Amino acid sequence: QKGGFASFMDKEIHDQPSAVADTLRGRLDERGKLKLDEGIIAETVLGAVDKIIVVACGTAFYAGMVAKYAIEHWTRIPVEVELAHEFRYRDPVLSVRTLVVAFSQSGETMDTIMAVRHAQQQGAPVVAIINVQGSTIAREADAVLYTRAGPEIAVASTKAFLAQIAASYLLGIYLAELRGNKFPDEIAALLAELNEMPAKIQLVLDTSEPVRELAHSMVNERTVLFLGRHIGYPVALEGALKLKELAYIHAEGFAAGELKHGPIALIEPGQPVFIVLPSPRGKEVLHSKVISNIQEVRARGARTFVIAEEGDTEAAHYADHLFTVPQTPTLLMPLLTVVPLQIFALELASAKGFDVDQPRNLAKSVTVE
Ligand code: F6R
Repeated sequence: QKGGFASFMDKEIHDQPSAVADTLRGRLDERGKLKLDEGIIAETVLGAVDKIIVVACGTAFYAGMVAKYAIEHWTRIPVEVELAHEFRYRDPVLSVRTLVVAFSQSGETMDTIMAVRHAQQQGAPVVAIINVQGSTIAREADAVLYTRAGPEIAVASTKAFLAQIAASYLLGIYLAELRGNKFPDEIAALLAELNEMPAKIQLVLDTSEPVRELAHSMVNERTVLFLGRHIGYPVALEGALKLKELAYIHAEGFAAGELKHGPIALIEPGQPVFIVLPSPRGKEVLHSKVISNIQEVRARGARTFVIAEEGDTEAAHYADHLFTVPQTPTLLMPLLTVVPLQIFALELASAKGFDVDQPRNLAKSVTVE
């Protein structure tokens, strides 16, 4: 069942190229029209949407954060991302023009179910991005876009995360087309690039040995920090969550720009810091700003582990360890940059002798509020 891997989680990390390929396959027709799996929301309703709210928990919430950057950019519709358990208690402003998008692997997370019900009671249409067929949210949502990651057995979510991100790109591209695509060239290039993603994820997996070695040298760490900016920020948060839940090590993810507003006080000599570095080909200013952040933590003695794009000639100067991922447009980078962080957490937890498939105190789906 584990396909020769030591754990389901290791197997599921290695399933990621096919999870993404299967999620993307055959979804968009030549007009960029998305085929939803179940239910329909009339195009007139979708075309009139003036706000999108993503509701989700945990790793699915971070997938929603990634989706915000992409969907907002492509569609110019404002996107909010909200923890499902906070959503309905703050009396959110919802209407028939608010599209609520629920992200959930299991489709059984009670917090997310309650958020979906609340949205529907207020008249908002709900699209669900779900992995488990026929699950509660899949049945209750107005329309479903299934991720096709296959069963995820390990408690910690990995391949479902990548599949959720891939599905959200499809939704974003579809909404962009529906509303008169303002970036036709960019979106055509993205569709072509999405087809390349499974092979690129495979390449990251094939070159992951140095991450595994690093993890084995870090079993005695007490705290690890993760920095990211823009679309790398949710990746940093996800890297920290994986390390907490699997290796029981204190870990925190920060927006790199927030460092100077407080967290830099945590840096002392030897502190390990992972940095998800933006592409120097993207908004160049972001690359240099994060490089400055790396310099700031290094000046205070931090050890820096940098995830950078191949061909980033500057990154090596600022990294105690540099891990590279293939080049891809900025908005697609999370599909690659999160993989080394997943492997790091898996390997560190395994080196500590922990059960990576069944971390303590956690359940695969949280069916209580
Ligand atoms: C983390 C993890 C959890 C889930 C969260 C939502 O590795 O697995 O944070 O992502 O409980 O679960 P779903 O996606 O089933 O709603």
